[in-house]
Amino acid sequence: MSSFQIIVGSMLGGTEYVAEACEETLLALNHQVTVHLKPKFEQINSEKQTWLICTSTHGAGDFPDNIQNFIEDLKISTVDLSPVKFMIIGVGDSNYDTFCKAAFDMEKVLLSIGCNEITPLKTLDMREEIDPEDLAQQWLITNSDLL
Ligand SMILES: Cc1cc2nc3c(=O)[nH]c(=O)nc-3n(C[C@H](O)[C@H](O)[C@H](O)COP(=O)(O)O)c2cc1C
Repeated sequence: MSSFQIIVGSMLGGTEYVAEACEETLLALNHQVTVHLKPKFEQINSEKQTWLICTSTHGAGDFPDNIQNFIEDLKISTVDLSPVKFMIIGVGDSNYDTFCKAAFDMEKVLLSIGCNEITPLKTLDMREEIDPEDLAQQWLITNSDLL
C-alpha cells in the first residue's frame, strides 16, 4: 500500500473529474489518497509519498492558474524531494501546438529536482472522442504493479 497525493491543475473543472476517478481507483487498490484541488506546496507531504499530478494546459501552453504557485514554490524549495515518486496525467487538446505542455513542463521540473518518475507520462487528448476518466483509471490499473 502506498500513500498518494493527487495534485490537480484545472481551469474549467474537467481535470478534477479525472483526478476524482483516479482517487476512486487508487482507493479500490487499497492505497491512501489525498486530493489537492488547490495545491499548496507546504501542505503536500513528500515523505514516502507518490505524487500523481493531473493537469490540463491553458493559455499558450501555460499551467492552470490554480497550480502556478505550487510550481513556483516547488522550484525554489530547499526540501530534499529526492524520495518523491511521481506519475503525471496531462489533459489537453492536440489542436494546440502546445499539446499538454504544462504536463511535460511539470515533468521537467520534478526530474530536475531529483524526483523519480515511476511510469511514462500519460496524455489524454480531448480532441478525440474519449472518456478521459475511464482512460485514466485503465492507465492506473495497467501500472498497478509499479504503485
Ligand atoms: C483558452 C484555452 C487554451 C488552451 N490551451 C491549450 C494548450 O495550449 N495545450 C493543450 O494541450 N490544450 C489546451 N487547451 C485545452 C484544455 O487543456 C482542455 O480543454 C482541457 O480538457 C481543459 O481541462 P480543465 O477543464 O481541467 O481546465 C486549452 C483550452 C482553452 C479553453
